[in-house]
Amino acid sequence: MCFFNIYFLVLNSDLLGSELLSQLLSVFTAALGSLQYGYSLGVINAPQKVIEKHYAMSLGVWTERSELLDNSTEEEGSFEEKKHPSVVMYWSLSVAIFSIGGMVSSFLVGFIGDFKGRVKGMLMVNVLAIAAGLLMGLSRMWKPHIMVITGRAVMGFYCGLTSGLVPMYIGEIAPKAYRGALGTLHQLAIVIGILLSQVIGLDFVLGNDEMWHVLLGLSGAPAILQSLMLPLCPESPRYLYILLGKEQEARRSLHRLKGAYDPAADLEEMRREKEEADKEPRVSIRLLIFSSVYRQQLFVALMMHLSQQLSGINAIFYYSTAIFTKAGVGQPVYATIGVGVINTAFTLVSVALVDRAGRRTLTLVGLGGMCCCAVAMTVGLKFQNDYSWMSYVSMAAIFMFVSFFEIGPGPIPWFIVAEIFSQGPRPAAIALAGCCNWTSNFIIGMTFPYIQTWMDCYVFILFAVLLLGFTIYIYFRVPETKGKTFEEIAAVFQKKKIPKFSTELEQLKTSTDA
Ligand code: GLC
Repeated sequence: MCFFNIYFLVLNSDLLGSELLSQLLSVFTAALGSLQYGYSLGVINAPQKVIEKHYAMSLGVWTERSELLDNSTEEEGSFEEKKHPSVVMYWSLSVAIFSIGGMVSSFLVGFIGDFKGRVKGMLMVNVLAIAAGLLMGLSRMWKPHIMVITGRAVMGFYCGLTSGLVPMYIGEIAPKAYRGALGTLHQLAIVIGILLSQVIGLDFVLGNDEMWHVLLGLSGAPAILQSLMLPLCPESPRYLYILLGKEQEARRSLHRLKGAYDPAADLEEMRREKEEADKEPRVSIRLLIFSSVYRQQLFVALMMHLSQQLSGINAIFYYSTAIFTKAGVGQPVYATIGVGVINTAFTLVSVALVDRAGRRTLTLVGLGGMCCCAVAMTVGLKFQNDYSWMSYVSMAAIFMFVSFFEIGPGPIPWFIVAEIFSQGPRPAAIALAGCCNWTSNFIIGMTFPYIQTWMDCYVFILFAVLLLGFTIYIYFRVPETKGKTFEEIAAVFQKKKIPKFSTELEQLKTSTDA
């Protein structure tokens, strides 16, 4: 009772009006959604065998022999082959359905964000996360395979929405000098979520026979906290002013975010953006795909997301334990946690650097570095039987691969899309880029084991070639967005085609008005 009194007091007071505190609180609150996304990405790996056992028991295919196999020291391959096919099928579905949920829902980001606003949008979709957490948390009560698969599908659907809504909100409320650092907090929360799930997924914490359902159920917990905190966060002033035309509410929102200051300059910047936005039609996903007006930006956005996923990062995250085993590393589970720690540490480095060094430079350094590490990993894997120290080469290469990823190619694609599109096409662009991210993530997750079997120790050469291609593309095509207003960034893309641009915009506007 007392808690609720304090809560409502804070909600109605000006306590959060002080600059920085309110902005940080808003960004932190939004990033709880990203934490949940990271946790859900990582949570399914560690307790695989335990969960499979419960699936087998509920399907009635768990036998004494399975018990023996489960405790056996045989290598992974032979164990896998002897698993009951329906267990393998339900397990694969539990992993894959998450990405399918995300692929579908990422299309709805624009609609949800514009429907009731960014803050209410995030609040609404939390129902999904809580429902998913409950389904998985209660999965020991009835057919675990059905409960977990349904829960993962709903959670994937939620994460597809949150991975678009969070960067959209943060990008819109961040002051331009810190837009990169605050945007990177989305990725920081993701990697903390992954690390958290890796640590509490260890078998002596929650990744065991008794507690695995709690481990999965906890994926819904941040949504409860976020739902309590979202009412304290001001709505995006850009949404209020540019989209809804509510200048007074936008002014109030700016005051809540930045305290008592003169908002004239911010309002003027938004007024100019609104003027531009009013000239543009409301851009649907279909229009965005088919119109040549935004083609260049769209290409950059999609390539940035493709470079993030096709870099092979999730091959490391999903299969690191197996990769470390193959590279001859003892205690692979702890090496995997080491990857999580490095991942988090270098995202922090990126937070510190991104508004100074710039998005383009960090992405280029990151992708180039990852390309060299992929070559080093290949050398390590190829010669590990000839020289024992080669396992250290592989391990160092994996750690550095992840570090380079987090310096730029990990965090930057998530927020650069909100930067390079103006208010009109922004929601549709975030939706498309998100869908591209989820789809490529799904493809890598599903195909990597097969590619690995096919290419063996040369598997990372494939990623090295892709990384080289992306580095070249970004060098020639991606402009720097650091410290620029949204208007200035849009101008960079439109500079070369102003005459054509205005005629096409007119045509688009007429077709949507009709
Ligand atoms: C990014 C990617 C995600 C990956 C994570 C690793 O957020 O989108 O797929 O697992 O980075 O840190």
